[in-house]
Amino acid sequence: MAPPFSEIAKRDSEEIKNVILNGSKGQWKGFERMTMPAYRGKITDSEIQTLIGWMQHGIKDSK
Ligand code: HEM
Repeated sequence: MAPPFSEIAKRDSEEIKNVILNGSKGQWKGFERMTMPAYRGKITDSEIQTLIGWMQHGIKDSK
């Protein structure tokens, strides 16, 4: 899976949520030919919040 969570963590959490829900393409240099799949309908809001927490603070702090 790419790009790495360490780079994603620098992004705004609303933006992260949008990308997870809607997917994205062509924003990351080096990954222009890959598409991030949309997860709308496959993931709950609370699951998204958990993922964002991991990305921004690491797994240990999300407990
Ligand atoms: C639950 C699983 C996943 C999460 C939480 C996730 C999260 C993210 C986030 C937050 C971004 C945006 C980064 C940014 O713009 O700052 C991103 C981008 C991306 N992800 Fe994922 N991702 C997941 C699964 C996947 C999978 C399965 C693939 C490939 C099959 C993938 C491929 C990509 C690609 C190619 C981009 C860059 C899209 C672009 O250039 O606009 N991701 N991902």
